[in-house]
Formats: sequence, structure tokens, C-alpha cells
Amino acid sequence: MKICVLPGDGIGPEITAEAVRVLKALDLKFEMEEALLGGCAIDAANDPFPPATQKLAKEADAVLLGAVGGPQWDNNPRELRPESGLLRIRKDLGLFANLRPAILYPELANASTLKPEVVAGLDILIVRELTGDIYFGQPRGIEFKNGERFGFNTMHYTESEIRRILRVAFAAARKRNKRVCSVDKMNVLECTQLWRDVAKEVGKEYPDVELSHMLVDNAAMQLVKNPKQFDVMVTGNMFGDILSDEASMLTGSIGMLPSASLDANNKGLYEPSHGSAPDIAGKGVANPLATILSVAMMLRYTFANEAAALRVEAVVKKVLAQGFRTGDIYEAGTRRVGTKEMGDAVLAAL
Ligand code: IPM
Ligand code: MG
Repeated sequence: MKICVLPGDGIGPEITAEAVRVLKALDLKFEMEEALLGGCAIDAANDPFPPATQKLAKEADAVLLGAVGGPQWDNNPRELRPESGLLRIRKDLGLFANLRPAILYPELANASTLKPEVVAGLDILIVRELTGDIYFGQPRGIEFKNGERFGFNTMHYTESEIRRILRVAFAAARKRNKRVCSVDKMNVLECTQLWRDVAKEVGKEYPDVELSHMLVDNAAMQLVKNPKQFDVMVTGNMFGDILSDEASMLTGSIGMLPSASLDANNKGLYEPSHGSAPDIAGKGVANPLATILSVAMMLRYTFANEAAALRVEAVVKKVLAQGFRTGDIYEAGTRRVGTKEMGDAVLAAL
């Protein structure tokens, strides 16, 4: 069982180090090897996803990623930006299914900007298609036309791309509350009319799961109005990007949310939902719990070790109950700790 570890940029190396300690403490005989992705790879190899990283990521059963990006690379040409490395590894490994849970931990109920009664007990899973849509569509570009600049991108989906991500959503819903809400913009966009048509067809394969459809603008509104109406939400790459950020903030603590990006055989890339937080990088204050919870998702989905996954999740709940908090989730009366001390607390509880 081989894990490719990509610490990345900003706080990435600090939070990944704690997750690696947890992996080692589990004593499940993982082989781990590190490589470069993102800005650090641009600096070292002038390529955000260098060939050595491609090789290691392909050979591994799972990839653990910290975060990529930082202001020093923001003005680079597009292919030399950290984000291009992330998009390429997703596409290269065929990681079409992005699972982003938004769970409110009772201990952190005050972190949300929404009223407690609106978010108490929140447990949503956003299933985002990750290798298609306007993110990868051709043609794309900025050209000069009729005396002015003209920017364009192309939104497209094949029915097989839609079908496979809908099946992931239905399978996930079967293990939860058996409800899928498919999000589209069929009143305007043909591409998403096809999305809705295919969603209905796939729904017939899962008569035990309730399927509903919602337009994306309404979904954005319903997420803040009454988020607990949702169980699994499934949508395309761009809508999923936006709605998953919105859903994560319902919990008020993006530092707690993991994610998984899976291929058809449950090989996966696991990363926290938050970014590289350059403003606090190197200070030892970042919250490692989202990365540690990403390890739990890795154990569950790639290594099919539900017992170990539950163990890691239980340990995270325990350190919260014990009062340990990094700065992002700190409130009066709790114990403020840094990245490493939070890792120590997790290891002690484990
Ligand atoms: C995400 C991020 C990425 C995306 C960026 C960094 C390319 O926002 O994983 O949600 O848009 O997919
Ligand atoms: Mg995003």
C-alpha cells in the first residue's frame, strides 16, 4: 500500500507532517514517498506537476495533498501557476468524483455565522464532478476580435460523464439518508438540460433513493436558508466549486473539512478543503485536523478500512471534546494550541 505525499505550498508542509504522523501511528504498513506539486515544484523544476511527481502519483494507491498556491506565483503564465498543477493531477489520474462533506461538529457550533438552529446537526455531502465542464472545455482563450478583446470558455458534458458522477452520488446516498439533489441551470444552459435528463435516467436505477432537482441559483439560496434539507448534492465542476465553498462556511470552520477525489477504482487524492493560507504559513498555527480527517477518508475509500477511518474520526472528536483548538476555531474557555500540539493531542488520543 503506497501513498504519495505532496505537501505543497504555504501551510501545506506543516499540516501534512501531522497527517503523516497519524498515518504512521496507525501502523498499517503504508509505504510513503514525498514529491513536489504546485508552487514549490515551479520553483524547483519550472513545472507545477513535474514528471517525477506524475510517476509517483500514478504508481501510488493514494495521494495525500496539503495545499498549493501563493501570491508569488499569481502573475505567472497560466501553465506555470500552482493551480494548473492541481488541475493536471486531477485530470491525469482520472479523479472525476470529488466528495466534499460539510459537517458541523457540535463543539464548534458557535463558529458558524448562521443561527445555531439553522445549522445544528448539519451533515451534507457535496459530490462535485471534477474532470469536465467549463474547467477543461475547448475552445477557450482570450483573442482579439472586431477591434476588441474577446474572452471565451466552453461548458460541455457527455452523457457518460454525467452518468458516472450521478452513480457516485446515488451510491453515497444509499449509505446516508437516501436523498440526492441534482443541481443544474437547465432553464438557460443546454449542457445542464442534458445533465438533468441523464440524472432522471440514472435515478431509475436507484428506486430506493429520492431524487430531486434544483437550479443552481436557488440551491445557493437554499443552502443558507435551510441547509439541513439536503443530504447529498451532486453537480458539475464549476457549480460544485462554488457551492462547496458555500457549504463549508455553513460550518464556520473550513479548517475542519476534508475532501476526496476518486477515480473509477477508488484510487484517490485526499486533501483538506481549505487553501494554502500563505498569511500564516511557517508560523506553526495552522489547523491540521482537515488533513487528518482526509486521512480518514483515504482509509475509508481507497483502503476500504472503515474501522481505521472511524477510529481517526473518533479521535478528532475526542480532541475537540478535550478542548484543544487551533486559532481558526478558538473561542474563550478552550485551549489554544499550535499545529504540532494539535498533532500531539491527536496521537495521544489515538
Ligand atoms: C478547489 C479550488 C480549485 C478549483 C482551484 C485552486 C483550481 O478552488 O479545489 O475548489 O477551482 O477546483
Ligand atoms: Mg474551490
